[in-house]
Amino acid sequence: MSSSKTQHLVADQTGISQAASLLRGGALVAFATETVYGLGADARNGAAVAQVYAAKGRPSFNPLIVHVPDTDSAQKYVEWSDQAQMIADAFWPGALTLVLPLRQGHGLASLVTAGLPTLAIRVPNHPTATALLRAAEAPVAAPSANPSGQISPTTARHVLAGLDGKIGAVLDDGPCTVGLESTIVTLAPVPTLLRAGGVPAEDIEAVLGCPLAVPTSDTITAPGQLASHYAPNAKVRLNAKFADFGEVFLGFGPMKSDLNLSEAGDLTEAAANLFDYLHRLDESGKPIAVAPIPMTGLGAAINDRLSRAAAPR
Ligand code: TXA
Ligand code: MG
Repeated sequence: MSSSKTQHLVADQTGISQAASLLRGGALVAFATETVYGLGADARNGAAVAQVYAAKGRPSFNPLIVHVPDTDSAQKYVEWSDQAQMIADAFWPGALTLVLPLRQGHGLASLVTAGLPTLAIRVPNHPTATALLRAAEAPVAAPSANPSGQISPTTARHVLAGLDGKIGAVLDDGPCTVGLESTIVTLAPVPTLLRAGGVPAEDIEAVLGCPLAVPTSDTITAPGQLASHYAPNAKVRLNAKFADFGEVFLGFGPMKSDLNLSEAGDLTEAAANLFDYLHRLDESGKPIAVAPIPMTGLGAAINDRLSRAAAPR
């Protein structure tokens, strides 16, 4: 993690284009939206997305919301439906996030969805956010721009108080008007409220013409807590020195393996590869042995995910 200075950019044309080129170069940029400040990374760049978790000090890989400038852009990444269109017509741009199935060929880093087959996506209602998303010409993954477990930031000062020196820049556009995170709704198998937020549930029910279900233990238990995380079909064995007969081996550091999270032993690179490699090894149909991963930095989140994958089911 670089400890170089975080740039404080004013949200004029110069600031926006500087922020856009930082994003394109793989750096992290916190930016104003109408809900809260987001900590943005190019959603196609696994290493940049891994840095988001590192900067926030997240102990686990929660899936992130991807931000796009308009509904047409959203349709490049998710499977669209009539209900999705109704909601987008009524609430986008705005403080509403839709969870929809990932579309084939989406091109997003697997760390964005933490390996899930669905994507949370939103069109923010904020001129600076929109200008940044257009200038960057990239889907931008962004959780709230605060260290894990702390309060969501609604000013650039809040962002810097938590993340100064850990991110490339903050694009300052004053206080957020909504000041509350977006409402999250999934449409499958039935319209369900995953998180209350800036758009009242009643307004969404009025548009859909049906009540929103509340999450059951099969879907999602609490905001930020996914019960139905991707788990490999295969048995997973942790802290393995080498593969036993019939196993495939997921390595870390210089060693012989079927796939190596990072030969250089770089935890950011390992995080970026984690979900993709688990999926790939799972496709072999064989049990997966995993090399020891250190608990420092992003290693905590990697080990959290791996121990869930290895838990008895
Ligand atoms: O207003 C907001 O939503 C702000 C701004 C920056 O857009 N973002 C935000 O992100 O609040 P974050 O990471 O703090 O919260 C994202 C929530 C998490 O609770 C996560 O579990 C949920 O979205 N989420 C993301 N992808 C999901 C998915 N595929 N299925 C279910 N929940 C998902
Ligand atoms: Mg948050």
